[in-house]
Amino acid sequence: MSKILVIYFSLTGNTKKVADAIFDALEGDKTIKTMDEAQNLDEYEPIFIGFPVHSHSVPFKTEEFIKRIPPGKKIALFSTHGSLTGSRLSREALEHASILASNSKILGTFSSRGKISLQAMEALSKSPEHKAWVEMAASAQTHPDENDLEDARSFAKWIMTLNLQS
Ligand SMILES: Cc1cc2nc3c(=O)[nH]c(=O)nc-3n(C[C@H](O)[C@H](O)[C@H](O)COP(=O)(O)O)c2cc1C
Repeated sequence: MSKILVIYFSLTGNTKKVADAIFDALEGDKTIKTMDEAQNLDEYEPIFIGFPVHSHSVPFKTEEFIKRIPPGKKIALFSTHGSLTGSRLSREALEHASILASNSKILGTFSSRGKISLQAMEALSKSPEHKAWVEMAASAQTHPDENDLEDARSFAKWIMTLNLQS
């Protein structure tokens, strides 16, 4: 019997919050780890993989992790991002992660907005080309909120239903 694994990378805590919500909603034999802690993945299925969007894409650490998932594994991907939910910018990184995971069986994807660290906001505000993005992303500052976490819990349950069917 496989164990369920939730694995995440989180620099400022947003993706961790979503990962914790997913983990709480899961029933059965389950484990949660950071991407640095994950070793042998053979005994786990499905694997929920979470990451923050960096520079419109997947952080290098997450790319490396996705590439070492044993072929044919059932996985679910989730991200947090500063961009508006549903915008092209917020979708691109999950699309990229899905391409990287093309040897896996992707059961579903989920994303939530996540507040941007003051440090990142200040750094980005200094460059004129990022001004519009920083203004748009400012409304992410209350996220992930309780509604996002509730959606994350629903996502986890939905994925487990799909896992049984596939
Ligand atoms: C270095 C850096 C680059 C980022 N680049 C993007 C980006 O391109 N698009 C976006 O929507 N959010 C971007 N963000 C915002 C993060 O994706 C968002 O704050 C996320 O929730 C952070 O997750 P974490 O707290 O788990 O690290 C960036 C944040 C940082 C620190």
